[in-house]
Formats: sequence, structure tokens, C-alpha cells
Amino acid sequence: MNAPATPAVPHHRLPELLRAMPKAELHIHIEGSLEPELIFALAQRNGLTLPYASVEALRAAYAFTDLQSFLDIYYAGASVLLKEEDFFDMAMAYFERAAADHVVHAELFFDPQTHTERGVPFGTVIDGLTRACETAERTLGVSGSLILCFLRHLSEEAAFATLEDALPYRTRFIGVGLDSSEKGHPPEKFARVFARCRELGLHLVAHAGEEGPPAYIWSALDDLHVERIDHGVRCVEDPVLVARLAAERVPLTVCPLSNVKLCVYPTMDQHNLAALLDLGLCATVNSDDPAYFGGYINQNFIETFDALPQLGSEQAYKLARNSFEASFVDAGVKAGWVKRLDDCFAVFAD
Ligand code: HPA
Ligand code: ZN
Repeated sequence: MNAPATPAVPHHRLPELLRAMPKAELHIHIEGSLEPELIFALAQRNGLTLPYASVEALRAAYAFTDLQSFLDIYYAGASVLLKEEDFFDMAMAYFERAAADHVVHAELFFDPQTHTERGVPFGTVIDGLTRACETAERTLGVSGSLILCFLRHLSEEAAFATLEDALPYRTRFIGVGLDSSEKGHPPEKFARVFARCRELGLHLVAHAGEEGPPAYIWSALDDLHVERIDHGVRCVEDPVLVARLAAERVPLTVCPLSNVKLCVYPTMDQHNLAALLDLGLCATVNSDDPAYFGGYINQNFIETFDALPQLGSEQAYKLARNSFEASFVDAGVKAGWVKRLDDCFAVFAD
């Protein structure tokens, strides 16, 4: 795509613009969109008892110190998902929030092993999610696609078994990713699984450089051959890596509220989103696990722009445009979204 224009928008209209501009969301774990209210409703529907007395008690437990402290609660929350309808309801609730935030397209991560390990069949998971993607497109005008994530704390063998489970549904998901506990589980552990996925024509992404060092980002690029890095914020510790990411325009799916909630940065004003853009990187803004981290995609935009004075309308435009560039859709579809973005900025311009 050509270099973006930089339409000038008066500063006081920035929050309104951030909310209204069309955008794509490329880093959202659908299980992380499960709001406490829905966790309780699904537990009741499925006859399960939760170890929390109320929605408020559950929400009060969302005080995380690092990635693992979050994952323990996140996997517990996902345990209420049993039926196809549960996966459908969860994803539709997300799509409704995304549509309200002017998300035109979302690429959803899902964690099949979190469910198959509990005896929920792979087909149940993907049937519910697929039906939600189809319904969202028809009723909300939001397109959605699915990216299957392997849990990196589990073995290579378990990842291969999950891929086998998934192959009858090959047309239902566009790619694979790598998530869960990063430290101690470098990307190279899954090099052979990703090589097989590459042969199958799947898109490849991986979480790297959230808590893990720049070496994990190198490994995701060179051992897994990923097309995007999820998070990737620690790349700034390695200037050679930054130069490569910029030269190859490898997108980073950054999740600012997640980074603050998981103590990657102590406060939002210390987040490096503005620096990443200044370095010429294809950074995007995403919500990661919005039900756990304090907000959906627009809340991520609002809070980062509030905390970082270097961010203005030029950066807003770049971030939205980067989200389209980084998405796994046809060039013609991307061009249509860029036109909608330009039209939106024209409405807000001086
Ligand atoms: N990082 C790694 N794994 C995850 C995350 C995350 O932020 N969210 C859900 N699984
Ligand atoms: Zn994530």
C-alpha cells in the first residue's frame, strides 16, 4: 500500500475519531472475551458450580502480577464452555462489542486444547465459533476468521495431535498461532508443527516478546516463519531486530491494556506504542483478553492516546491502516477499508 496521508484532525475531536474510525482487530483470544456475567450464566446453564460466590467476587480476583497469574484464572473461566451454543454465545457477545467499536474485521484466536483436554470435542468448539463468524458477518457486517492457537506449555506431541483433530475442519480456520506461558517455552519448540502447518497453507503467527526476550522474536521469525508477531513489544531491546521488523514490515499486534494489567509496563504512560510507530514498525492496537484487562479495542485506543502525548491523529491513522495491512484478507478488501478510513478522517478533518 502507498504511504498513508496524514489528515489533520483537531485535537479535541481525537477521542471521538478513535472510536469512530474503522479498524481491524488481530489479537483477541475469544476465551478472553468471556465476561464474568457470561461465565456465571453459562455455569448455571450447564449445572456447574464456580469457586466464586458472585460476579463481583470473580472480578475482584482479576488482580494479576504477570502472565501466569492471569492464565490460571483465564483457564478456570473457560471451563464453563461445554456446548456448541456456549462457544457461539461467547463469540457473538464479542462481535457485538466489536461492531460497537467500529471493528470491520476480526481474526479470533481460539485455544482448542483448553477444551479438548476437558473432553469437549474439537468439532463442538469450531462449530460454535464458525456459526458466530457467519452470523456476525450477516447481522452485524463484521467479518471474522479463526486462528487456532497451540498452547506452548504443552508438548510438541500434543500440538501435533491437535492439528490432527483440526484437519477435518481445515477450511474453517485461516491460520495457527502460539500462546500461553511464554517464558521457558521458546518458539523453536514448535518448529516442526509450524513447518507442517506451513505446508498446509495456513497463515502463521506467534506470541513472542511479551514477557520473553528478543531471542524469542528471532526464533518466531526464523524457526517458525511467522507472518506477524503477537505483542513483540520487547523487540526494542535489540536494534538489529527492530531494523529487520521494520524492513520486512512484520506486523506487531500490540495490546496496551494487557501489557499494563500483566505488569509488562508499570503504567500506560511508560508503554512503548508511540516509540514503535516512530521506529517505523507496523504496530497495531488490540484488546488481547478484553473481559480480563479492562476494555475492548476502543478502550485500548482511548487509554493509550490519553497517556502518551506523542500520539495524535497521524498515529491514529497509521494504527488503523496498519491493522488493515496486517490482516489476512485480499488486497481488494483492504483497499475498500482504507477508503472507509479516509472517508472517516475527511469527516473529522479541520
Ligand atoms: N499471552 C499469552 N497467552 C495468552 C494470552 C496472552 O496475553 N492471552 C490468552 N492466552
Ligand atoms: Zn494474546
